[in-house]
Amino acid sequence: MIEMKLAIIGSGNIVHDFLTITKDLKDTELTAIIGTTRSLDILKQLQDQYHIKEVYTDFDEALAKSDFDTVYVAVPNFLHYAFAKKALEHGKNVISEKPFTVKYEEFMDLQKIALEKKLVLVEAITNQYLQNYLDLKKKLPELGDLKLIESNYSQYSSRYDAFEAGKILPAFDPKKGGGALMDLNIYNIHFIVGLLGRPKKVDYLPNIERGIDTSGILMLDYGNSKAVAIGAKDSVSPIRKTIVQGNKGSIIVNGPTNKMESFDVYDHDKNLLEKVDHNIYPHRMYQEFVEFERIIREHDLTAVKTRLQHSEDVMWVVKEALASADLKLD
Ligand SMILES: NC(=O)c1ccc[n+]([C@@H]2O[C@H](COP(=O)([O-])OP(=O)(O)OC[C@H]3O[C@@H](n4cnc5c(N)ncnc54)[C@H](OP(=O)(O)O)[C@@H]3O)[C@@H](O)[C@H]2O)c1
Repeated sequence: MIEMKLAIIGSGNIVHDFLTITKDLKDTELTAIIGTTRSLDILKQLQDQYHIKEVYTDFDEALAKSDFDTVYVAVPNFLHYAFAKKALEHGKNVISEKPFTVKYEEFMDLQKIALEKKLVLVEAITNQYLQNYLDLKKKLPELGDLKLIESNYSQYSSRYDAFEAGKILPAFDPKKGGGALMDLNIYNIHFIVGLLGRPKKVDYLPNIERGIDTSGILMLDYGNSKAVAIGAKDSVSPIRKTIVQGNKGSIIVNGPTNKMESFDVYDHDKNLLEKVDHNIYPHRMYQEFVEFERIIREHDLTAVKTRLQHSEDVMWVVKEALASADLKLD
């Protein structure tokens, strides 16, 4: 039985990636895809390839004519808020790509509407749903008092070359919610906030080119523990790891925080105790969408509230980080 009638907004990288897993999302019907007129050929090609029922180049028309119940907002960051808001106001559930919104106030507004209307509103943020992350959380007590978390997600962006050549795409546009904090470092923030919650103090030290952070170091102060999160789109490193250190042991997460490929647990004397890889599906987006299907099927508003509280804490960190660096993304 189909439980989630999905409309996808956007036809870019992440939509191409997402569609590859939809054959295994048994409760999802691909009801509509909505994009721009300039991308009509791509929309039609995706419709054919993935058997999507309807194509639209106008969201209002889609809202008027189609019977989808859930919208997946997969457009550039600065458009998340407007599309999500309109969808909620029309009684649709919303799955928003990360970052939820550019501004904290926008997120709070969406949250208010969703809670009032008893609609599902969730952020598509892979790491929070991956089995390796859920298992890592269970192992934390073995580390004793948590002292430090260090997370590095550096990935040279092909769009950085265009940026250097003077072509500013949304991912590097300060007016469109671009930058390393919003793109890659957001995963590290989710990782850390998912373990420790909202910090007491936030400081962001970015490398800024033409008004946008092309890389940066974020520091989160939790009082008795500290975390540092590095995100870079302008430089490379062979090391993409996260280290969680306590006074009795440590965990090293292998690979970037959006995938949580595996993790290793060490004792106080640096002996390797365990190598863990319990992710249940090769593609990083599968587990989150299975959970979104469940939340919608069961109309689990308790889960929605828990998820929203987490996203609110993340958006608060983003707000404080941008303010600390005097970065303005609008
Ligand atoms: N979860 C993940 O692992 C992951 C990975 C990558 C990105 N993302 C997130 O996904 C979002 C999209 O990123 P992306 O890399 O897919 O970007 P992208 O490749 O630039 O694609 C953006 C898409 O949005 C469409 N679009 C732009 N304005 C629109 C409008 N007014 N109405 C309808 N469609 C519109 C674009 O159409 P045109 O090409 O015609 O402009 C394009 O199809 C971002 O928020 C990003 O942070 C998530």
